[in-house]
Amino acid sequence: MLPSCAFSVCHVFVLVLCLSSAEDIDWTKNDHSSFYYGTFPAGFSWGAGSSAYQTEGAWDKDGKGLSIWDVFSHKKGKIQQNDTGDSSCEGYHKVKDDVSLMKELKLNHYRFSISWPRLIPTGIKSDHINEKGIQYYDGLIDQLLESKITPVVTLYHWDLPQVLQEKYGGWQNISLVNHFNEFANLCFERFGNRVKYWMTFNNPWSVAVEGYETGEHAPGLRLRGTGAYRAAHHIIKAHAKVWHTYDTQWRAKQKGLVGISLSGDWGEPVDMSNQKDIEAAERYVQFYLGWFATPIFHGDYPQVMKDFIGRKSVQQGLGTSRLPTFSTQEKSYIKGTCDFLGIGHFTTRYITQKNNPSGRSSSSYFTDRDLAELVDPRWPDPGSEWLYSVPWGFRRLLNFVKTQYGNPMIYVTENGVSEKMLCTELCDDWRIQYYKDYINEMLKAIKDGVNVKGYTAWSLLDKFEWDEGYSERFGLYYVDFRNKNKPRYPKASVQFYKRVISSNGFPNQREVENWRRKAIETCSSSNQLLAAARRKSKEHAEMPKVWPVHDEV
Ligand code: NOJ
Repeated sequence: MLPSCAFSVCHVFVLVLCLSSAEDIDWTKNDHSSFYYGTFPAGFSWGAGSSAYQTEGAWDKDGKGLSIWDVFSHKKGKIQQNDTGDSSCEGYHKVKDDVSLMKELKLNHYRFSISWPRLIPTGIKSDHINEKGIQYYDGLIDQLLESKITPVVTLYHWDLPQVLQEKYGGWQNISLVNHFNEFANLCFERFGNRVKYWMTFNNPWSVAVEGYETGEHAPGLRLRGTGAYRAAHHIIKAHAKVWHTYDTQWRAKQKGLVGISLSGDWGEPVDMSNQKDIEAAERYVQFYLGWFATPIFHGDYPQVMKDFIGRKSVQQGLGTSRLPTFSTQEKSYIKGTCDFLGIGHFTTRYITQKNNPSGRSSSSYFTDRDLAELVDPRWPDPGSEWLYSVPWGFRRLLNFVKTQYGNPMIYVTENGVSEKMLCTELCDDWRIQYYKDYINEMLKAIKDGVNVKGYTAWSLLDKFEWDEGYSERFGLYYVDFRNKNKPRYPKASVQFYKRVISSNGFPNQREVENWRRKAIETCSSSNQLLAAARRKSKEHAEMPKVWPVHDEV
């Protein structure tokens, strides 16, 4: 059941769907009776995640350089309520507290990212290395290991050093490949004795599309039809270079793994009996996940991207495709640079074929795909406007990865759901439902033979949600951002996730229903605590600021 504050009113592309009954295999849609009781393979790793800019705060502390997100969020009008990540959850000062929360959950791993400008303030290694930044991550890694929590580290979760943006135009410039490689090499050198799971990039799709095509994210560029493709091209090269650096210089000694975390919504054909819809849905996934995964696993962009962007570029009177090309050497250098694949997944769309005009002025990543995205108005959407809960899409995406990329080892790096800022409800029944159903679809995918080794709930804490600021809360733990100490409060989903972890899955219906009931029962006391703290801080705020007349000592 959704609390009233969790309803979103915005359905942009709503279609009342006549679902076809043409199910080719027994993949189930929203049929709750199909819940699968069972456990995960022994050794399955359970975690939660965060990223540097979203949680650390301390944006200008201890010698950290500026990132593009520091600069972007300080510009008026870019972020909801003009929020910034300046202090965020104060994670930089709360390592101990946060590791205790992870211990409480009994996590096997914690996924976090390293802020490049905290380590190398200008992004250029020969300029200066900030030892205080190194010390911070040293402390975090050591505390995790002491608590028997495996650190899973992302090297780039969007916070590019601002100097590299100003000097070179950020990911539009090939020179970033070497700078990123030097940063990665520094991380391997300093942390690689303790960190064994590395991810080069997080969700490069967002970096490319939202950073360089729509401009909703830093650096806020709107280079429609070319910017995203160019950024992605350099990111893929940078990823491959870092993988080779690890492979040749560190692997033998450190024995770790290097992967990448890609995000992908699932795209389901609106009409399963319509070949055009089937092809459009395939294009949706290929332009999303395939854009990055296909070069990394097969050496080149998906054929359908080359065909569509190439054809449209010709129609637009361009001499060459707007999609850059890899040379033969580059293809073989890039192919196979992935020890494991990180998958971030949140939602699904229905897809139908839609021809877009191919005039030069209208060229964009979005129009290149010739499709329309639709949602079923019955899908729950408690928080973010784009995030509809469609658990069965997760199983399909995981199976897609298995068949397209040769059944790679997968770590789910992000999965979760948000609620709106004004909702101070810690009894997040809808999040329990989301996790329960999505984790269950992942279990079914494992039964299908997909090689999933771990799962990361997104996210440990409420945090800065990029252009949405603090208006969307993804955390298992609620953070009171109005209190400068940023206290954390467990939501009911903490109790539920904890049980999933300790049972390594879903033992039987009676127990799982019990977990759920207990979780909801116990969260009311956390609700009271939060309400009391709120009242207190309000009273405080309302007290007139009075000082003793003679306060000189
Ligand atoms: C993917 C991003 O990697 C993450 O930072 C963000 O919080 C989630 N999407 C939810 O929007």
